[in-house]
Amino acid sequence: MEGLTTTKAPFIEKAQKNGERFIHQPYELYSEENHKAWKSLYNRIRERWEKYANPKFLEGVARLNLDSSRVPRIEDINKFLKPLTGFSAKPVSGYIPAYTFFDCLRNRDFPTTITVRDISKLDYLPEPDMFHDVAGHVPMHTDKAFADTLVRFGECAHSASLVIQELKDSEIQKQRAVSIIKAMARFFWFTVEFGLIRSGKELRVYGSGLLSSYGEIEHCLKSPDVQRYPIQLEWAVNQYFEIDHYQPLLFVIDSFDHLYSLVDELEKWVREGRVNSVAPGEPNVSELDLQSFLTAKG
Ligand SMILES: [Fe+2]
Repeated sequence: MEGLTTTKAPFIEKAQKNGERFIHQPYELYSEENHKAWKSLYNRIRERWEKYANPKFLEGVARLNLDSSRVPRIEDINKFLKPLTGFSAKPVSGYIPAYTFFDCLRNRDFPTTITVRDISKLDYLPEPDMFHDVAGHVPMHTDKAFADTLVRFGECAHSASLVIQELKDSEIQKQRAVSIIKAMARFFWFTVEFGLIRSGKELRVYGSGLLSSYGEIEHCLKSPDVQRYPIQLEWAVNQYFEIDHYQPLLFVIDSFDHLYSLVDELEKWVREGRVNSVAPGEPNVSELDLQSFLTAKG
């Protein structure tokens, strides 16, 4: 059995070589080891979800009927998800350029990795995998306010592409594009990927990077080494981050309506030129990401 294991999947390598970004989920290719890895990841983290995840996420897990013993079929997930918020998980072969990613969100598609991490590396891997995308992200997409927020991110990217493409001087265009993409990537990171939310007197987790990490979901709420601050848009867009260790700084939102209003504000800032020169530093904006905004069409 060839398997669909992160960085070791011939099916994915072939799709990438052929330039196929959007693919299907060849379910028969999953190995028994892939199913075992999924089962271990899921059953290990379950009890921490109950303790630390926000209630909308827990509702989402129940509403999606996520399979805990085998790798889920994307088709099955979409059958439950689509009627709720119009969102679908859309299998991809790997990295999606920034604009294309946000544009998928605008159309209520969520680019989803279909490979499962190696069973010997359940704790840490730098690449995205299906457990992160499907167990960490997708349950949040069952909530209307959260789903609408993702669409607003897509609309923000669309406004950004129009602002960028209007510029005549190619040097200025490039400099501004890098800054705007950085601002959007940082804001997405500190919310959708690593956000915390107030829930009564406590804090709960809603960021998918935290929801899919057995270690960090507890560390982020319990460790005295983590700084947790009420989110401020101007801070989040200027704050660099590193991806290879637990996050030392996290931002807290009040509700998903609050998050929606912040993305709304960010979209205005993009149009008004307020994120044209954010602080330098991570994340790096690749040529592919840059070109995706420069060449985006309507
Ligand atoms: Fe993610």
